Amino acid sequence: MGFSKNFIWGTATAAYQIEGGWNEDGKGPNIWDDFVHQPGKVEDNCTGDVACDHYHRYKDDVKLMKQMGVNAYRFSISWSRIIPDGIGKVNQKGIDFYNNLIDELLKNDIIPYVTLYHWDLPSALYLKGGWLNPESADWFEYYAKVVAENFGDKIKNFITFNEPSVFLGCGYLIGEHPPCFKLGSKDLLLAGCNILRSHGRAVKILKENNPDCIVGITLATQPLIPVAKENEQEAYDSYFTCGLGYFIWTMSFWMDPIKFGKFPKQLLDEAGDLFPKISEEDMKLINQKIDFLGINIYEAKYAGNFTRAPGAAHTEVHWDIYPDALKWGVKLNQKRYELPIYITENGMSAHDWVSLDGKVHDPNRIDFLHRYIKGLRDAADEGCDIRGYFHWSLMDNFEWSKGYNPRFGLIYINYETQERILKDSAYWFKSVIESNGDNL
Ligand code: BGC
Repeated sequence: MGFSKNFIWGTATAAYQIEGGWNEDGKGPNIWDDFVHQPGKVEDNCTGDVACDHYHRYKDDVKLMKQMGVNAYRFSISWSRIIPDGIGKVNQKGIDFYNNLIDELLKNDIIPYVTLYHWDLPSALYLKGGWLNPESADWFEYYAKVVAENFGDKIKNFITFNEPSVFLGCGYLIGEHPPCFKLGSKDLLLAGCNILRSHGRAVKILKENNPDCIVGITLATQPLIPVAKENEQEAYDSYFTCGLGYFIWTMSFWMDPIKFGKFPKQLLDEAGDLFPKISEEDMKLINQKIDFLGINIYEAKYAGNFTRAPGAAHTEVHWDIYPDALKWGVKLNQKRYELPIYITENGMSAHDWVSLDGKVHDPNRIDFLHRYIKGLRDAADEGCDIRGYFHWSLMDNFEWSKGYNPRFGLIYINYETQERILKDSAYWFKSVIESNGDNL
């Protein structure tokens, strides 16, 4: 059976991680600009000021995508590039940049998938309280409106948020990412609910602008893999459990209200008065129909008492390797949410460098992807509705607080010269795309 005929094969990036041009052409600052400019926050004090200079090199980058044979590209829009203070005047030069990028993609038959929010909140909105401010839903609605009005005739596929668990968890709970807060459950619930309200408002605006557009949300997840058939129910139950101590990291905190119009009961019981009030109207918007669920998967866990063997396979950033991660991520989530699924991110960082022959050989990445994508195909064979796979990432880029050390790309970047080199894995990925995954 394999992947469907119209399966989407793409690569993914995020604005802050690749664009550079951090203060060019009227762009306003965002929380990542502010964070990286404080010494000691990012490894080697790296910044995204230039990153992969994609702001100036997007045409070359689209050419490389074409060469790799991808039929889609997932990228994010920098909110403060198109609305410098987040809620005020629109910056035409920012709009022009994305229009040019989109035109270039369409000219090359590459379908754009746009993420509205990949972590780079305009600084002006941080000063107003960021996601803790209930008005954030109004701000996000306005931003989505600007996006819809300016790009809605050319873009059909939208993702409202990328990994709210990670930007809330790392930014508001652990404090390693901006805005570097370490908050308690009451504030975390408030921010989480504001993000969900913002999602609902954005879906409404995007659909009003174009009822035929396809809208989803992307969540990060570590699937729970059952080690035997008799563990399957246990894995399912435990995977979707959502209590107060860890709700941010669960699928059900985000997806249950979106799909079922209510939060998990255990969480509500444990939170009691800590839970913010959500109006019926807001819940209706949160609960609006979406067209797909995007999941980002790198790691997984085994259900039950399973301990990792010493020396077991892991990547350069020490993430353990679970070849069945995609398969179970899809199976678990489709069983509960009954939505078409895209893998919106998957990939690994490796110790990539340019060899004496001038090429970048990355056999580990090829093996990793072979196993993970084969697992995904198994899920398709079992009848799961999987619409596409986006590799993270198109190219090496600014890996948040780890700077430029981890390399996740199919394209190698020399950050001194901005030279791009297709890694062996890029050619391998091309062959997978050409066979629609049948050669795995
Ligand atoms: C994020 C990306 C990040 C990748 C690898 C995901 O959590 O969406 O921005 O670079 O993982 O860490």
